[in-house]
Amino acid sequence: MINRRKFIYHSIVGATTLHFVDTAYAASQKQQKNNKNGGPIIVSTWDFGIAANLAAWEVLKNNGRALDAVEVGVKVPEADLKNLTVGKGGYPDRDGHVSLDACIMDENGNCGAVLAMEHITHAISVARLVMEKTPHVMLAGEGALQFALENGFQKENLLTEESGKAWQEWLKDAEYKPIMNIENQHFSPNKLPGNQYNHDTIGMLALDANGNLSGACTTSGMAFKMRGRVGDSPIIGAGLYIDNEIGGATSTGVGEEVVRTVGSFLVVELMRQGFSPEDACKEAVARIVKKKPEKAKEIQVGFLALNKKGEYGAYALQEGFSFAVCHEQQQDLLIQGKSIF
Ligand code: GLY
Repeated sequence: MINRRKFIYHSIVGATTLHFVDTAYAASQKQQKNNKNGGPIIVSTWDFGIAANLAAWEVLKNNGRALDAVEVGVKVPEADLKNLTVGKGGYPDRDGHVSLDACIMDENGNCGAVLAMEHITHAISVARLVMEKTPHVMLAGEGALQFALENGFQKENLLTEESGKAWQEWLKDAEYKPIMNIENQHFSPNKLPGNQYNHDTIGMLALDANGNLSGACTTSGMAFKMRGRVGDSPIIGAGLYIDNEIGGATSTGVGEEVVRTVGSFLVVELMRQGFSPEDACKEAVARIVKKKPEKAKEIQVGFLALNKKGEYGAYALQEGFSFAVCHEQQQDLLIQGKSIF
């Protein structure tokens, strides 16, 4: 039996009212009521999605393209030094190198990605250039960096004082296991060094006024990962997938499990078969549990989906997964307070 927990809070950020609602189901219903014509709408993972959505909204409210919106949007957490899981300031690998993964996909099925790229904050913009300026989909490591530098990006040190301290702290035990990414303090006993919660990737999906979908996904990956480790986030079909006829999906959590199920592609294909966004996400999570029941209590994996009608939904393995929604009427942060256990 699914547990549904009620957590409704209200707060003010600038002039924006944030409504914290418990279930993706409630969110999905609300969207159908508020926005019968679909877009423009933006959804993105975790609490940092709120600020990212606001930046993306500046593009969409002026009839901009969803692709531009998602790039602008996810650049916000990439540049936020307080964000320890995306972009500059993200936790390094176990050897102290910050390496970023990102991908982007547009309404025409074009896509680009960078994997394990160091020294460039805006991995998403490099991913977009891979899509637009090369015949390829992915560039990795040194090659991705070289491509970025050739295209005007500046080399930076992405390890900040805070992420460097957290790494030093981690080195004391050097325990190598994924830390469950549950961000909300009401739920989470799992704290990282430096007292930070481990909410990882930002995945963003947008539907513009012309009815076109795009998505972006960017992360510094698993904290203190093995050097060279790449998760789901830059893998088209795993961390992100867009089909402009159907909808889009993105994921967060332990990337290995998402890759094994080609999770975001699966969610979109389930929506093609008639699943609602929430039910599609739930089924994708269930497939992961089915494959690895013994692991299911130890890890977090979540999916977020948006269909062509502007309906959205999400589902996560553990409680405490939140996502942010932005459309004409309001900004919402929706906490998925459900557990399949
Ligand atoms: N979902 C982010 C990662 O596993 O790298």
